[in-house]
Amino acid sequence: MNKTIVALDFSTKEEVLNFLSGFNEPIYVKIGMELTYACGLAIVSEVRALGHHIFLDLKLHDIPNTVKGGMKNLVKLDVDIVNLHCAGGVAMMKAAMQGLNEGAVNGKRPLCIGVTQLTSTSKEAMNDELRIDGEVIDCVVNYAKNAKEAGLDGVVCSVYEARAIHEACGNDFLTVTPGIRLADDSKDDQERVATPTFAKEEGCNHIVVGRSITNASNPQQTYLDIEAMMQ
Ligand code: C5P
Repeated sequence: MNKTIVALDFSTKEEVLNFLSGFNEPIYVKIGMELTYACGLAIVSEVRALGHHIFLDLKLHDIPNTVKGGMKNLVKLDVDIVNLHCAGGVAMMKAAMQGLNEGAVNGKRPLCIGVTQLTSTSKEAMNDELRIDGEVIDCVVNYAKNAKEAGLDGVVCSVYEARAIHEACGNDFLTVTPGIRLADDSKDDQERVATPTFAKEEGCNHIVVGRSITNASNPQQTYLDIEAMMQ
């Protein structure tokens, strides 16, 4: 089942509760650094207590031992998905999985996915600033293969890379794609953007949608419209 994960990129608890109060059923949300740094990790438990499913998007990237310890503690939050940057390397990703498995409660741990190249990164920025040669898709598929080797459950990528990742890593390897925009939306700071319909056609497992929903005049209806496009 394809899920639409709503990015709760708000800075206050009031905005979050107000936004979520418009939904009659639990939804899948993404809590990232903006909200966590504003409200602390307590916000995760509060949203969880409302019954919503949580992708905790803290994008860990540090030496293996530190990421292992961080992940071991994140398990206690009982979220559904956590993530890290694939750029940290295979040893870091393996350590993350060790931390998650050691921290698992009753054998249950969150899914762990790796951020490949941010959807705000263009080929030019990747080549000229990051000094990674070649096409974005080659870098992204390489990161995905590393993530799979390290035992991760999937990756974060753009819609344009999902098909190649499934070919390289199998259909069970999750692709979670931000950079989603409705046809008339501004792409804002994102680069590799695509519509929900195209995401479905390309076989993306779950999409992450922030501003196209949170800035809409009727966010709940826009969410339902996007959900319908993904089914
Ligand atoms: O508002 P918008 O739909 O662009 O929000 C996308 C969300 O997905 C943001 O919370 C951003 O941090 C996150 N994200 C992303 N690209 C990645 C990984 C995460 O845009 N590669």
